[in-house]
Amino acid sequence: MTQHHPDRTTGEPAHWWRDAVVYQVYVRSFADSDGDGIGDLPGITSRLPYLRDLGVDALWLTPFYTSPQHDHGYDVADYRDVDPLFGTLADADELVARTHELGLRLIVDVVPNHTSNEHAWFRAALEAGPGSPERARYLFRDGRGADGSEPPNNWQSVFGGPAWTRVEDGPGEAGQWYLHLFDSTQPDLDWRNPEVGDLFEDVLRFWLERGVDGFRVDVAHGLLKEEGLRDQVRGDEAGDAPHAMVERVVQDEPMWDQPEVHEVYRRWHKVLADYPGDRMSVAEAWTRGTPGALARYVRDDEMSQAFNFAWLLAPWSAGAFAEVITTTFASLEDVDAIPTWVLSNHDVVRHTTRYGGGPQGLARARAATLTMLALPGASYLYQGEELGLEQVDVEPAFRQDPSWFRTGEPGRDGCRVPIPWSGSEAPFGFGPGTDQPWIPQPATWSPLSVAAQTRTAGSTLELYRSALATRRTFAHTAGDHVEMLDLGEDVLAFHRGPLTVALNCGTAPVPVPAGEVIASSGDLPGGVLPPDTAVWLR
Ligand code: GLC
Repeated sequence: MTQHHPDRTTGEPAHWWRDAVVYQVYVRSFADSDGDGIGDLPGITSRLPYLRDLGVDALWLTPFYTSPQHDHGYDVADYRDVDPLFGTLADADELVARTHELGLRLIVDVVPNHTSNEHAWFRAALEAGPGSPERARYLFRDGRGADGSEPPNNWQSVFGGPAWTRVEDGPGEAGQWYLHLFDSTQPDLDWRNPEVGDLFEDVLRFWLERGVDGFRVDVAHGLLKEEGLRDQVRGDEAGDAPHAMVERVVQDEPMWDQPEVHEVYRRWHKVLADYPGDRMSVAEAWTRGTPGALARYVRDDEMSQAFNFAWLLAPWSAGAFAEVITTTFASLEDVDAIPTWVLSNHDVVRHTTRYGGGPQGLARARAATLTMLALPGASYLYQGEELGLEQVDVEPAFRQDPSWFRTGEPGRDGCRVPIPWSGSEAPFGFGPGTDQPWIPQPATWSPLSVAAQTRTAGSTLELYRSALATRRTFAHTAGDHVEMLDLGEDVLAFHRGPLTVALNCGTAPVPVPAGEVIASSGDLPGGVLPPDTAVWLR
């Protein structure tokens, strides 16, 4: 199939998502319409013109479905309704309609690995008891040891602690255990049970019929576990990666990336193809094997895209960035797919902070983003990065991440602080209320608000706006071939069609390559490319 190739005659991509820039909206922290300090769907609808003017192609919304919010919506109690915290189904319809009126696309999250423990299925499973068809939708097992008081295997939750919780099988009577790769309020479904696949086909169709353009698939590599649920053989810990998802991962992974998971995405591919308008899917799959493991999710009859977390995990080094680019393209050759790029999301430390914070962290973040936006394929942006926001050190009293409660580590709340829109004090135009939102915003955010940065020369927001506008002049036509250039070991440099891109990761200025500068992440005094700066030329 040649579905991934652009139409060279019109310069339009064969698929809208192929080189789209997608903006991730963390629903509870984007815009609050009703003043309760928590973002909501009408808030997002009211701010859509901002996203159109920023110049993105699509938005991806984190889960807004009915949920007790133990993992901020990644614990879904009803996949076919909107949580009252965020609005109503009518508000969702309005958001879809308005998004399309503005020429944007809408991607929603689907969470198939686990439900909430408040989902009707899980409640029924607790009621029905061992051996019942209701329990067979989840992974209930008897415990080990003489009295069953040991968990069925040694698996650990991604959020810390054992991946099993014991239930009562009668009043006061210790019973079976259920598996939860995440929080105990997120029981894992048994995807070997056909009822589970049927439920999710219905869920996809429900939202496709309401007009969504695609799905971001949560924990896409987790749905199927190795049959038998054997113990994991522990290897070396994965080092100091910036994400819980990879920090606690060890070498042997009977719970992740099982071959049978691909059957699920073949089925979903067919479901999406039933609808007009080029609907898409993107996998969140923290595969750790060869880059080829990720490529398997984007074979022609599976998903459209997969997040390329290798780019996000790369340290600040020209060599490391070059290596990711080269291996990314090599791994996708066999599957004829196009890469994606991402630097920040709601699960990782914001890239300004990862790169050291302060003025240098910001300079590096801007340069890495500019470099990313020149690469063939789709780029995913996370709300607030266009304002240059840093990770916030959230006071313990305000932390809500389940991993904080399970491990006592700070968790992910610091990248989820509501974004500043305007004004000189909290809530910085986030909503009509006058109090701090659900996580307090730092007082220092006043100069970082959208209003403060709009039309301010050199602001990060204006950099994003102009870079996205310039990207439109070449994204469809510059081709997919990237040729790496050797400008010394501290400089990442490549040609893409008529474009030359250089990123200085070193400590000394280097000459700007030949060509007309069409964008730069910072000043280029006297024709040199300073450290921590990127440039596009043609
Ligand atoms: C994904 C989400 C993360 C969530 C987890 C469990 O990794 O991105 O926010 O906590 O899945 O659903």
